[in-house]
Amino acid sequence: MSGGPAYPRDTRKAALFCPAPTAAGDGRIAAAYDVCVADVERGPGAQADRIADLDTSVAHPARVYDYWLGGKDNFAADRVAAERVLAAAPGLRFRVRANRAFLGRATRYLAAEAGIRQFLDIGTGIPTADNTHEVAQRAAPSSRVVYVDNDPSF
Ligand SMILES: C[S@@+](CC[C@H](N)C(=O)[O-])C[C@H]1O[C@@H](n2cnc3c(N)ncnc32)[C@H](O)[C@@H]1O
Repeated sequence: MSGGPAYPRDTRKAALFCPAPTAAGDGRIAAAYDVCVADVERGPGAQADRIADLDTSVAHPARVYDYWLGGKDNFAADRVAAERVLAAAPGLRFRVRANRAFLGRATRYLAAEAGIRQFLDIGTGIPTADNTHEVAQRAAPSSRVVYVDNDPSF
């Protein structure tokens, strides 16, 4: 028996959902593409199975940031790392919240004043209050947002 995937291949659907990496793309993009194709081919539930394997014993920047913002989507390792950084930089919580407030003001301005309707939010973090699409769509309901982050499950 071959070592290929045990699930049926559906390359047409995968091509639709998974943007192929360019030849010059780095290895992480190619790896993300492979995971995306496998998820699409395996169908509903595949992504949830993979997320269940998430290693929560290692701090991740998105969850550490969530902790600093007062969010609930973080684990012990994230909180320990976050507190260590706060011990070295006590004003950080204020700066993190100021950064989040700037994101809101900038998005609001772009949607309400500058007429922007398509947003690419790179390094979006974990969903929390006033996410980019919520701010943009409050100002202009037809706004569309694509979120990108460094997925810790890869
Ligand atoms: C400081 S948080 C910013 C969250 C949000 N944009 C905000 O302003 O409130 C930075 C985010 O960037 C993400 N990140 C770091 N390196 C990245 C990369 N190479 N590609 C995409 N996201 C990345 C982290 O996972 C984290 O969620």
